[in-house]
Amino acid sequence: MSQAWVIVSGKGGVGKSTITAALAVALARRQLMTVAVDTDIGLRSLDILLGLQNKIVYDMVDVANKDCKLKYALVQYAGAPALSLLPASQLGSSADVNAELMGKLVRKLKKRFSYVLMDAPAGLERGVTNTLHSADHALLIVTPDDVSIRDAERVITLLAQLHKPRPLLIVNRVVPELVLRGEMYSPQTVANTLDVPLLGYVPEDRAVLRALNRHQTVMDEDCPARQALERISQRFVGEYVPMPSHTKRRWFFGWR
Ligand SMILES: Nc1ncnc2c1ncn2[C@@H]1O[C@H](COP(=O)(O)OP(=O)(O)OP(=O)(O)O)[C@@H](O)[C@H]1O
Ligand SMILES: [Mg+2]
Repeated sequence: MSQAWVIVSGKGGVGKSTITAALAVALARRQLMTVAVDTDIGLRSLDILLGLQNKIVYDMVDVANKDCKLKYALVQYAGAPALSLLPASQLGSSADVNAELMGKLVRKLKKRFSYVLMDAPAGLERGVTNTLHSADHALLIVTPDDVSIRDAERVITLLAQLHKPRPLLIVNRVVPELVLRGEMYSPQTVANTLDVPLLGYVPEDRAVLRALNRHQTVMDEDCPARQALERISQRFVGEYVPMPSHTKRRWFFGWR
């Protein structure tokens, strides 16, 4: 059965778009029909992250306004044909697509795709709530700091008010050495604080920026962030993949 996920954070700049693009590529490379939906109207970014910025003719607002059919706005990703992008418009604002139109759009997408991954804007304004409304599930992206955690708590409250299931958590930009030294929250500590299940964590990795500058996702780099996202995508589709233990302290003969 098709699933619509929103990738959301509260705090801006924590890696929602990076993770949406990478997860979408990982799912599509497993031959799972996936659409990445950029709901950040006016501030789109998934097109650049996927290297599709020169292929956009129509966007989500055109579809919502019935200026074009959905199929003409979808852009196929060359690196994995099972992946399509529904871009946000570069102009306009979240007011251009209301919750009802967004809901209709998602229902249409679910008929064609197994996974609908919606990259939410930052904050908790209308654009975000519209997207939360239309999603079946939420992936919460948090960086291991108090500001991001506090904003994530507000997202969790909002999801509960909308009668949505509890989100799954991805902790991004983890620096294992700092966690070991007790100078950064461990991913599990963040999960315990927020009381949500941990899907995985992504380490801080310069290859993420390198990939962005090449207009490709981190799934085309050979780096720790890619490996982490690979594991996350496996857990996302229900496979059992243990968490790597390099943020735990080495203790005699094993890890604890
Ligand atoms: N694991 C990581 N390691 C290093 N840099 C990262 C990592 N994850 C994200 N970044 C960098 O952080 C910046 C913000 O990422 P991104 O645009 O994905 O965040 P966002 O949550 O979508 O932001 P916004 O709220 O503005 O939409 C980018 O420059 C990205 O390359
Ligand atoms: Mg973004």
